[in-house]
Amino acid sequence: MLSRCTCRLPVSLTLTSILLALVAVGIPSTKLHGQTPNGWELLGRGVNYGNMLEAPTEGEWGIRFDDRWPEQIRQAGFDTVRLPVRWSTHTDTKPPYRIDPAFLERVQSIIDRNLQQNLRVVVNLHHYEELFADPQGHRERFLAIWKQLSEAFQSAPPNLYLEPLNEPHDKLQGELWNELLVEVLSVIRPKHPDRWVVAGPDFWSNVSALPRLKFPENDRRLIVTVHYYMPFAFTHQGAPWNQPILPTGLNWDGTAQQQKAMDDDFQLVIDWAKKADRPVYIGEFGAFEKAPTESRARWTQAVRERCEKHQMGWSYWELASGFGILDPATGRWREPLLKALLPSAQPDGR
Ligand code: BGC
Repeated sequence: MLSRCTCRLPVSLTLTSILLALVAVGIPSTKLHGQTPNGWELLGRGVNYGNMLEAPTEGEWGIRFDDRWPEQIRQAGFDTVRLPVRWSTHTDTKPPYRIDPAFLERVQSIIDRNLQQNLRVVVNLHHYEELFADPQGHRERFLAIWKQLSEAFQSAPPNLYLEPLNEPHDKLQGELWNELLVEVLSVIRPKHPDRWVVAGPDFWSNVSALPRLKFPENDRRLIVTVHYYMPFAFTHQGAPWNQPILPTGLNWDGTAQQQKAMDDDFQLVIDWAKKADRPVYIGEFGAFEKAPTESRARWTQAVRERCEKHQMGWSYWELASGFGILDPATGRWREPLLKALLPSAQPDGR
């Protein structure tokens, strides 16, 4: 498994070395237009550490990060982990908006454990609900959080990717989000001129919102991300946080019509990314545990195959909770889902 992991990335490594060399001789990354690597080279196959650090406090949603997971994830054949973090509940509500040092240390140690396994890590800012309800009122605090994070992560290796905000929505949309993205980049870039930064459209990073998303043209180190949960009635059946709860028992058979709907969605992403000349990362996709197992596996495979066909990086939502591919009680992979993501994985490799 490990040899497969090392040999499937030569292009990205070569490209990264070239980019680093160009940067070293002083050619700014803004001149690299036309040599954009694709999302697959950058992020490959991944999984989200969901429901852990983006709960109001770790453990509150029934699951804590387990030190054994990075190795298990790497051994199965993943390249990347995405780490959702709710910084807002660990940050002072008054200026200078200090992040709790113990929490920052906890997150940093989890990042390090994953980097040590040669996993790429996408760390984000997740569930800042007050920002979505009142973007102006929370702008300064949001930027202060990223100023501290950019300092904390300044010496991290290039395998750390920053994602300033998960799923903008509610009042944070359209031009307001485009402008806030530029602002947060101006906070991050002084310490991270060449680090890859991930950002997606408003409306929960839904494909349909892509036409509203604008990336600053001169920043060539941005990856566009989209979250894919379509058809929603299938992926979120029985999910208790979605009210009214959607009826269960709905299959996804992969009919010609269902395949076409998925192709059409992917085409919107491909078109946007081609025009903007940006790598693509499907940073979340998954079907909740209440959906029929065979259909979940079929749908998961269909999304994953499209990502790979179109050279997009992907990260399944999520590891060990309600969408989980791993049973936290036994430490074992859920085989049908793991195989849908990594056909040649060794399910019991632990
Ligand atoms: C949210 C999760 C949710 C998932 C699927 C994520 O972005 O943070 O809470 O389970 O989407 O709805």
